Amino acid sequence: MSSTFFIPAVNIMGIGCLDEAMVAIGKYGFRKALIVTDTGLAKAGVAKMIAGKLAMLDIDSVIFDGAKPNPSIANVELGLGLLKDSGCDFVVSLGGGSPHDCAKGIALCATNGGQIRDYEGVDQSTKPQLPLIAINTTAGTASEMTRFCIITDESRHVKMAIVDRNVTPLLSVNDPALMVAMPKGLTAATGMDALTHAIEAYVSTAATPITDACALKAITLISNNLRLAVSDGSDLAARENMAYAQFLAGMAFNNASLGHVHAMAHQLGGFYDLPHGVCNAVLLPHVQSFNALVCADRLRDVAVAMGVDTHGFSPEKGAQAAIAAIRNLSRDVEIPAGLRELGAKLNDIPLLASNALKDACGLTNPRVADQRQIEEIFRSAF
Ligand SMILES: [Fe+2]
Repeated sequence: MSSTFFIPAVNIMGIGCLDEAMVAIGKYGFRKALIVTDTGLAKAGVAKMIAGKLAMLDIDSVIFDGAKPNPSIANVELGLGLLKDSGCDFVVSLGGGSPHDCAKGIALCATNGGQIRDYEGVDQSTKPQLPLIAINTTAGTASEMTRFCIITDESRHVKMAIVDRNVTPLLSVNDPALMVAMPKGLTAATGMDALTHAIEAYVSTAATPITDACALKAITLISNNLRLAVSDGSDLAARENMAYAQFLAGMAFNNASLGHVHAMAHQLGGFYDLPHGVCNAVLLPHVQSFNALVCADRLRDVAVAMGVDTHGFSPEKGAQAAIAAIRNLSRDVEIPAGLRELGAKLNDIPLLASNALKDACGLTNPRVADQRQIEEIFRSAF
């Protein structure tokens, strides 16, 4: 079986790497940036700080702080309008998954024309996007280094998965010094998102030895560091390990893709406007219980990566140990126990399930599921 490995050409990471990244940005010869961010980072002055550093490189910029959590088609269109009116020749995304995804939508439409809805699915665009430099502040969605762009179509209440090599950023930046301000809840949710990426990629039907290595290392780093990063946000060593972990998990799922957890979580996020990482964290043990029938040996590896001594365990017992370890981590970082707590409604399950079956992320789940089975998993997660 052949495989293709996608990753940005240049990736700069580590505590205090932002200045090194700015030197790299200065060498591309760009003139004016659209800085895509959210209101929180704009209000905290982080976007202005980046604009100031660009100005020192003689690069002009304009700030667009309209990337909402679960960014929408309207957010993309507003940013695209500002980009065109301002004559920007590249895009800088600053934040977590929402600003990166919104920026990808803007940069893709800037060169390909049309609307972001036109690019739903896999590799629907024909031209490279406007150059995108992604400065990450969470750990994380890994959107700063992936070819995945998730945009909410508010009219349909669904999250569109745009999986397109052309949305891969030119340069990714992961400076843990920009992550210390993340509150506990966001640290926990984004960390569990990264764990979900690693586990779904590891049990994916498209996994390769390269993605396996990335996934297992990510799982170990997350198991050893997420609790620390949540309990003490200023623990720079834990923050740096989480930055590496989420990047490794991104390398894994960017190439092995995901599974039913993401396909189902996208529907919850799109329907109820819920945080992506929390939806994943709640669904993860339930989907892996469903998957254990066909990939127990792989889930036993997950248990080992999470520090469980599986000596003498059958694959089935190892899979149960992995699911227990996931639940323990989730509980320790105070993820809500079920979907009811998140405000989901039992009556919506049939529609959520049918939309989940249309999501491209489910295609590589190790166990094929039908409408009834997806509905059952949703119910079990209530
Ligand atoms: Fe995710």
